[in-house]
Amino acid sequence: MSQAFYSHARLYDLMFPGGGPAVDFYRAGANRQGGRVLELGCGTGQKLIPIASDGHPCVGLDFSSAMLAEAQRKADERGVVVEWVQGDMRAFDLGRTFDFVFITANSLLHLQEAEDLVSCFRSVRRHLAPGARFVFDVFNPSVRLLAEADGVRRTRESLSFLDPDRGSVSVDVAETYDAPAQVTRGTWYLSTNSEPDFVVAPLEIRSIFPQELPLLVSLGGLRLVERLGDWSGRPFAVDAALQLCVCESA
Ligand SMILES: C[S@@+](CC[C@H](N)C(=O)[O-])C[C@H]1O[C@@H](n2cnc3c(N)ncnc32)[C@H](O)[C@@H]1O
Repeated sequence: MSQAFYSHARLYDLMFPGGGPAVDFYRAGANRQGGRVLELGCGTGQKLIPIASDGHPCVGLDFSSAMLAEAQRKADERGVVVEWVQGDMRAFDLGRTFDFVFITANSLLHLQEAEDLVSCFRSVRRHLAPGARFVFDVFNPSVRLLAEADGVRRTRESLSFLDPDRGSVSVDVAETYDAPAQVTRGTWYLSTNSEPDFVVAPLEIRSIFPQELPLLVSLGGLRLVERLGDWSGRPFAVDAALQLCVCESA
């Protein structure tokens, strides 16, 4: 239910310009680990292109041909080589192993069913070289914030951006929380003064609660080695923004 959202790859990069501590974190992880790198749900390559520019052989897998086309364009522009693969992280077979595999920016949370998460983890495990690390980040669900999703359309001032083609773009979001499914179902509206709602796209994102996370990981044949709470490496705690998980083959 989120494909339409990711068909606007150029707008995605304008709305979420990337950079910052997440790039530094994954770049440092890949450098520490060395060897071959795989990102699942790589999008436009915001993390993978800098990692490839450090000299690592990199593969980026994503569902969206639009996101991959933009990733390829950006990599070419920077003179960086990455192998971009269209595929589904729920089940994939690249026929080789990697030393560092990661999934970032809540991409994993597009998998809504527990079976899909476990199937993804099993696919990851099959792609881990001996001693490899698998790292992913998902948000730490706040019951208070989830309960605030009341279906009302509101402007997200912090996401407004300047599109060189269209001018100033505002972003509105209306969200409801489907508690039994643990899924926040949103509709995103992008508008300019002259073109209201030129994009209207659904975006759905699951919550993985802290107690279920290690169980899903272990059902996928992996072991949660460490869970951090932020990009600076603070241990995970109840009020942490993130669940930043470091895993290895069980
Ligand atoms: C929030 S974006 C993150 C992109 C990138 N990792 C980043 O940090 O900018 C989520 C990405 O996951 C991809 N995605 C969603 N479901 C997927 C699936 N089942 N298999 C592969 N990619 C998927 C989307 O197409 C999108 O590019």
